[in-house]
Amino acid sequence: MCGIVGVVGTREATPLLFDALRRLEYRGYDSAGIATLVGGHIDRRRAQGKLDRLGSVLERRPLDGLTGIGHTRWATHGAPTEGNAHPHGTERVSVVHNGIIENHAELRAELEAAGQCFDTETDTETVAQLVDLNLKRGMSPREAAHACLSRLHGAYALAMIFAGHPELMIGARHGAPLAIGYGDDEMFLGSDSLALAPLTRRIAYLRDGDWAVLSRGGAEVFDAAGRQVPVEITTSALPGNAIGKDGYRHYMEKELREHPLVIGQTLQRMIDAATRRVVLPELPFDLARIPRITITACGSAFYAGLIGRWWLESEARIPVDADVASELRYREPPLAPGGLGLLISQSGETADTLAALHSLRAGGQHILSVLNVAESTMARESDMVLDTVAGPEICVASTKAFTAQLSVLACLAIATGRARGTISDAREEALVAALLDLPGRAAELFALGPAIQAAAAMVAEARDVLYLGRGAHVAVALEGALKLKEISYIHAEAYAAGEMKHGPIALIDRSVPIVASVPSGRLFEKTASNLQEARARGGRLVVFTDAAGAARMGRLAEHLIVLPDSHDFTAPILHSIAVQMLAYEVALLKGTDVDQPRNLAKSVTVE
Ligand code: G6P
Repeated sequence: MCGIVGVVGTREATPLLFDALRRLEYRGYDSAGIATLVGGHIDRRRAQGKLDRLGSVLERRPLDGLTGIGHTRWATHGAPTEGNAHPHGTERVSVVHNGIIENHAELRAELEAAGQCFDTETDTETVAQLVDLNLKRGMSPREAAHACLSRLHGAYALAMIFAGHPELMIGARHGAPLAIGYGDDEMFLGSDSLALAPLTRRIAYLRDGDWAVLSRGGAEVFDAAGRQVPVEITTSALPGNAIGKDGYRHYMEKELREHPLVIGQTLQRMIDAATRRVVLPELPFDLARIPRITITACGSAFYAGLIGRWWLESEARIPVDADVASELRYREPPLAPGGLGLLISQSGETADTLAALHSLRAGGQHILSVLNVAESTMARESDMVLDTVAGPEICVASTKAFTAQLSVLACLAIATGRARGTISDAREEALVAALLDLPGRAAELFALGPAIQAAAAMVAEARDVLYLGRGAHVAVALEGALKLKEISYIHAEAYAAGEMKHGPIALIDRSVPIVASVPSGRLFEKTASNLQEARARGGRLVVFTDAAGAARMGRLAEHLIVLPDSHDFTAPILHSIAVQMLAYEVALLKGTDVDQPRNLAKSVTVE
């Protein structure tokens, strides 16, 4: 799972490739590498670790050449070492790859028997060795690549360059996205249009199974059978400028600060300011007639989906199923014909969510996606997209995109309730008022910095932390625990507060802090009782609540963090921001790499 980029041009390729890799680092940062054609020969530089390490290597040993390929890796097959870093190849061909070649072991055995010598443990090297063998057998690069592609099983986006062919690059796509960029006497390949944004706005997306032969002057695209197919060039609207931290210590801090703005912008798209009613774009299906909704997503986006389920069920009284994408497609739940598949993804590129989209579609579902990247693979494959207007999210751990997803889902629940006649005008008015109140309330959260820092000092000492909540706030607990694990490497578990006595209570002692999200609402008393049970066993509590909750909580919590008042409906959004802020403060104390935590990637593009 990785980002790939390629250039055939008239300028020095390495700076262009390096900049594009910076924009692809969200796909992985275990290692990076670049290969170029220098005087007809292939030369390459690679480095283990983040892109800056490759930058230092290139400073010491610059790499010339007008044609080249680059790669940023999230390791699947083979450890994240320099040796396993892409590009892979021989003196004849160099390859970068995103995806997994599932029949690599079989191909490797066959190639080794034919005398090919492997340097790495990667599945990708089988592609390079197969093309190399084909070249040695007298095939042209085009024939060698085509013959190789017909042997590959699995998912791939590939870019290849060939010794002795300084103006040639071949790209291929099967199950992993690949974009062709059209420049002025130069051509590009990239995992997405974001990578190519500073280079060109003219983009064509390869269709699944297609492959492309690029020269400086253009591209010829072929299907798997080798027939030339037409290409549709679109104009990308993505900004080409670099995204900075604006003086904040980390992207995460900056993105946390953007919550009020992002919620406001997202709501503005969905709520008519004059009528104060939710207005969705025209949908290609009737919300009133949908028999059932299946929500699917990965990571934080899935937790947004769980809160969305709560809202849809309670406001629109519609049955909703929610499952992580990697499970949904194998569980093969019976799907009601004409039902709605509701996908949630920041990147729109997550492989499991995309695969779930395909299986929901095969099951006769309409596809509605809540996405942050408008020019993503999921956006192209959905019947309808509801945009989160979060702007680029750079920190690997999602923050502002999560609350933007919640803002969209809240509006969708209201619109669905109205379409199905389950909410009154007065109820809609109250919910919309609560939503419109949110940006201001979210801004007030930042005044809680010192209280959250004090709680963080306690949490940072712990090896294990328990997060609790009830109702929609179970998902807030899940989000809080995930954030803590991701960026501070402290083990955290989230539980429905009522379930605590069925197991996790055995863990509780002074060394296991409990973080609870408990707004004063319908479930307050019950949750507070669960916290009493924990307190009675020596548990040390960090409790997020509001003023009314704080008044009823007494002296239960060691750290009582009083959030601005909010409606029950919108409280999960404010509480989510608060638990994200706590995770950030803990990570600061732990001194971890907040924006790029170990072993993670912003977008997981392998299943
Ligand atoms: C990765 C990221 C998470 C994100 C998840 C889903 O695991 O680290 O922050 O929530 O992918 O990504 P998506 O782009 O589909 O929302």
